[in-house]
Amino acid sequence: MQSAPKTTTTPAFDDTGKLSLDHINNRADPREYFSVLSKLDYRVPELAKPFFRRLIEVKRDEKGESATKVVDVGCSYGVNAALLKHDMSMDDLIQLYCNDAPDSRDVMLRRDRALFSEAADDDLSVVGLDIAQKAVAYAVDVGILDAGVATDLERNELSQSDRAAVDEPDMIISTGCVGYVTRTSLEPLVEAGQDNGVWMANFVLRMFDYDPVEEMMGSRGYVTEKLEGAYFPQRRFVSSNEHENVMENLHRRGLEPKPAEREGWYLAELHVSRPAAVAAQPLEAIFSP
Ligand SMILES: C[S@@+](CC[C@H](N)C(=O)[O-])C[C@H]1O[C@@H](n2cnc3c(N)ncnc32)[C@H](O)[C@@H]1O
Repeated sequence: MQSAPKTTTTPAFDDTGKLSLDHINNRADPREYFSVLSKLDYRVPELAKPFFRRLIEVKRDEKGESATKVVDVGCSYGVNAALLKHDMSMDDLIQLYCNDAPDSRDVMLRRDRALFSEAADDDLSVVGLDIAQKAVAYAVDVGILDAGVATDLERNELSQSDRAAVDEPDMIISTGCVGYVTRTSLEPLVEAGQDNGVWMANFVLRMFDYDPVEEMMGSRGYVTEKLEGAYFPQRRFVSSNEHENVMENLHRRGLEPKPAEREGWYLAELHVSRPAAVAAQPLEAIFSP
């Protein structure tokens, strides 16, 4: 007698061995996103915040004006914008979208439109770019983001209207996104800001090879530095399966796992690119007290 095929509820993993979060990335509102990621202790935007803030401060000094335009790649529901422009914390967002989330999306929209109507940093304009159209739309609708671009630059070119939205940025940033995006997505954004002397700051998991981005930036006259010795816990591994995949990816890159990685955390590093002419001050000096 033939036995019935086994059905499993094993979570899906993407090509990089990470749990696929596609099912939460593009909902009509951020409730599910924060509910799932808070259980995984997702924290890299919070850890990135003081570094982004410091880079914005230094860029403002360099420009001699405080109006600053940031493009956040893989912005999701405007997470980095909520932290940088509205001075929220990840805990605030988890409170808003998990513990204090109204059942009705309309009620939540009204609450959030009021909440984000005034920014903590008025001179900071954040344009979010993400493949997740609904996530971007929510963040623009409630005013977390100043503008949004929903596109996949891995596969498509920047349309004329999208190009206008990301034109002349002062800084390109990302958390949790490089890996999904490569130099292919980043290059047109850099091109849109090159005349502006745009800087780029990405928090990138150690298991991803950043060399292709560094090479692309080098070919455009940029110096890329990694903040040496700084490791930022991104989130916990969801399973032993994910843990094994990370160990394998690190091994493939010739990297020895750090204690936190052995204990179950994804670790990210900060890579910053600046035009060679302004990169004389080493990155460490920018962040040293
Ligand atoms: C782990 S989430 C990080 C979101 C946010 N930056 C944060 O730290 O909370 C990764 C994001 O990358 C986006 N993404 C995946 N592929 C992309 C692509 N090709 N272009 C732009 N965004 C992409 C996903 O939709 C998702 O919002």
